[in-house]
Amino acid sequence: MSGRKRVAVLASGGGSNLQAVIDHLAALGDRRAADVAVVVAGRESAGAIARAKGAGIATAVAAPGSLEATLAAQSIDLVVLAGYLSFVPVAVTERWAGRIINIHPALLPSFGGHGLYGQRVHRAVLEAGARVTGATVHFVDAEYDRGPIIAQWPVPVAAGDTPESLAARVLRVEHLLLPRAVDALARGAVALGTDGRVCGGAVIAPASAFSLQLPDDATLAAEIDALFRP
Ligand code: GRF
Repeated sequence: MSGRKRVAVLASGGGSNLQAVIDHLAALGDRRAADVAVVVAGRESAGAIARAKGAGIATAVAAPGSLEATLAAQSIDLVVLAGYLSFVPVAVTERWAGRIINIHPALLPSFGGHGLYGQRVHRAVLEAGARVTGATVHFVDAEYDRGPIIAQWPVPVAAGDTPESLAARVLRVEHLLLPRAVDALARGAVALGTDGRVCGGAVIAPASAFSLQLPDDATLAAEIDALFRP
């Protein structure tokens, strides 16, 4: 036994966040606290399934009704929703309470909730005229996009942004934020307290994050790492 947490990544789409998690854990090597044990999608044709197969990771196709059994059969410790569009049954959010997280491409609680996913989120941000958006990693409970927030990172909205250009800028941050949150959760550097609040880690990005320009990936990664220092 490696002592590492067994992670299930649930993804309906292309799976670029899944890929970021896989790559980050691989880069950590022996220092990683988690392994992606299975990737679950609602359909075999999901890009995430192909990425999992490419990485030699087990895959499963599950309807919401069979999700709990699928995860239990793999002895899953942590569940990561990475662009998962299907309904997650309460049986799953309760059984993995404090051990199930989601990435959302905006600063929750704004621009979240039922029906706000994918490009719709970025369109809503632009329609509202918001100057700042971002990425949020949060614990999942029975309500869409409402669980306690683990980490957020702001992303500026640029004049002339389209939903596509904004999505790309936010996605770059997602790819750095989500894998680090997964590893921190697996290490116990962040946890959900019995009072329903997040312990450890940091919920607010440092002041440098509020610059009008996002720094290069290495600087951004180092600043996000600092959020999860034990
Ligand atoms: C991401 O923007 C994620 O925040 C949202 O869906 C998108 C998934 O993208 N929930 P990908 O499948 O990881 O490329």
